[in-house]
Amino acid sequence: MKKSIPHGGKLINRINLEYPIDFSANYVELDRLELSDLELIANGAYSPLEGFMGEDDYNSVVEQMRLANGLPWSLPITLAVSQRKARTLAIGETINLVHEGEVFGIMKVTEKFFPNKQLEAKSVYKTTELKHPGVKKLYERPEVYMAGPITLINRPNKGVFESYFFDPVQTRKKFHELGWRTVVGFQTRNPVHRAHEYIQKSALETIDGLFLNPLVGETKSDDIPGEIRMKSYQALLENYYPADRVLLSVFPAAMRYAGPREAIFHAIVRKNFGCTHFIVGRDHAGVGDYYGTYDSQKIFSCFEEEELGITPMFFENSFYCKKCENMASEKTCPHESEHRVVLSGTKVREMLRNGVQPPKEFSRPEVVEILIAGMKEVYESENSPIS
Ligand code: ADX
Repeated sequence: MKKSIPHGGKLINRINLEYPIDFSANYVELDRLELSDLELIANGAYSPLEGFMGEDDYNSVVEQMRLANGLPWSLPITLAVSQRKARTLAIGETINLVHEGEVFGIMKVTEKFFPNKQLEAKSVYKTTELKHPGVKKLYERPEVYMAGPITLINRPNKGVFESYFFDPVQTRKKFHELGWRTVVGFQTRNPVHRAHEYIQKSALETIDGLFLNPLVGETKSDDIPGEIRMKSYQALLENYYPADRVLLSVFPAAMRYAGPREAIFHAIVRKNFGCTHFIVGRDHAGVGDYYGTYDSQKIFSCFEEEELGITPMFFENSFYCKKCENMASEKTCPHESEHRVVLSGTKVREMLRNGVQPPKEFSRPEVVEILIAGMKEVYESENSPIS
């Protein structure tokens, strides 16, 4: 078995559901992004983090893509509060972490500091433009970062994702039971189209198992909602994948759209879930044209493979070629671009919203039907009169 050792050496577990809630304690309200980060720190997906980052780790991550102890880490994981709120919280105090009136965790406050948001935007997102959804989110957050070790004392409701939600200890156990010696992780915030299927199955030709790990946390509003995508993944797996070679499991994190930096983060987190390999295709975690097509692959050369501890599998831009009558990439197809079925994500989303089926060479009909029905429901509920 190729060993997948958690990042930093051991899987963090900061869940204590027996912890008695102190309703009189001071509290901080978490947004959706922070709530998902809280759970992912606690269940070890973000090992070795044990809490929201302090200033040394934060600065080191922003400037050098490493924690203060030198371990690779590419995205700040922070808790933001207003200055007014920060003034009411004392160092050393244990506070409640609350979302929509419910206490989910506690944090022992060790630090409060002002981030340099401009530097964070430039370093992490490579732009300070507010048009970038990650930068917009960064600037919308309050101005002070609070740090300290956390404990999850109450698990957020998983809703429709319940039966596909596994902690890293559970996925590691499942991989072991399935007898997979090697496991390739796949991140997506989209439905699985033919190009995704092609690169996943190319990987599956040499790797024992596929960990299909769609991100279902907060995404930008025009991305297809996770609830709809889940149904399409199930239909795809039932019809086109061998059941004993794939584990479908949701990744509850928020999307940052940080392109290359997020690709490193995605890989490290999948290592914590037990993957030995991780797929990085074209424009991984990108948005608009902020990043070069293969920047998310190139960034892996900033690290030694041993210090990342997971092997990236790079794939070229893939498409269906009508002349090859097959899925292919620039590496395998000699034909002109006019023979290739290529659609932008924006175009596909527009087609689905309008009930127009993308060609079967682009997306499987079983997937398309579910997406169109799902988007219709969303559209109708958004436009229904409130009685
Ligand atoms: S994201 O989370 O990385 O933004 P997306 O669904 O766009 O999700 O992509 C999932 C993975 O598939 C990424 O590794 C991406 O690079 C890869 N990918 C998407 N489309 C293609 C394509 N046409 N050819 C090759 N790789 C692709």
